[in-house]
Amino acid sequence: MQALPDSLCYLNGDYLRLCDAKVSVLDRGFIFGDGVYEVVPVYGQRLFRLRQHLVRLERSLAKLRIPNPHTEAEWLERMRRLIADHAQRFGAPDQLLYLQVTRGVAMRDHVMPTGLTPTVFMMTSPLKPPSPEQRHHGVACVTARDFRWERGDIKSISLLGNVLARQISADQGAVETILFRNGYLTEGSSSNVWIVHEGAVLGPPRSEHVLEGIRYELIAELCEELGIGFNLRPITETEVNVADEIILSSATKEVLPVTRLDGEPVGHGAGRGKPGPVYARLYEAYQHAKAVQSI
Ligand code: PDD
Repeated sequence: MQALPDSLCYLNGDYLRLCDAKVSVLDRGFIFGDGVYEVVPVYGQRLFRLRQHLVRLERSLAKLRIPNPHTEAEWLERMRRLIADHAQRFGAPDQLLYLQVTRGVAMRDHVMPTGLTPTVFMMTSPLKPPSPEQRHHGVACVTARDFRWERGDIKSISLLGNVLARQISADQGAVETILFRNGYLTEGSSSNVWIVHEGAVLGPPRSEHVLEGIRYELIAELCEELGIGFNLRPITETEVNVADEIILSSATKEVLPVTRLDGEPVGHGAGRGKPGPVYARLYEAYQHAKAVQSI
């Protein structure tokens, strides 16, 4: 087993060393992947867009009929304690907070048992943003068929489809696998995907095939601020292949330019194979949002 970092985590009301935290083998998260999660970036010990993460958590829980075990204030109090401890222990003000809620512990049965106490787990780790090199040159991605299940809208801990999808790009030394369902763009294995067409940012519409990243709303707001067009509509594989720019977004990637797709340079003319101007503006605006919107 890999050595675990000696950080504090939260499990069902207790604060423990990560290596000491244990859950039951009958936890439905372990048996069925029956649970949901969130990944919240923390800048300077402050949580970025936490309210939106908690709203999405509530939505995912409701879809699985798991009661939300905490109020917003309770979540915040527990998160702050972990973040402060991590900062003190490792001197790392920028962190990633992972939280997971499963249905709880019960004898194995596919039917959802009622009245269980949900299992709540949280941990923090150092935030590893994309490298300056990746920002400067952009990253390589590959494409694949979206073979995952039909409920990508739920931020479920059942991520086997995403793991298999991600490995396709990992095996080719690329940073993400961009997925298509019936010829239309859905998302990446662990990020949302945007294209730039005639100066406007286009993304796939919200649907059961796409996880609505916290950056969906954020990118719409930033485009509005910057006077950049923004539109959610079905995007064909051909449109992705001839896009002026391709941009990934997630809690960890922020916004990140894709400059090679399946080995071919992205974009046109002098900008071909280079991060584009719309990415550059979004990135600047994103850095500003981090500074002013974290709590
Ligand atoms: N992944 N789509 C998928 C399938 C994802 O797993 C993620 C995030 C996103 C982007 O969502 P957000 O902007 O809220 O990070 C889209 C996280 C970071 C993860 O699983 O580690």
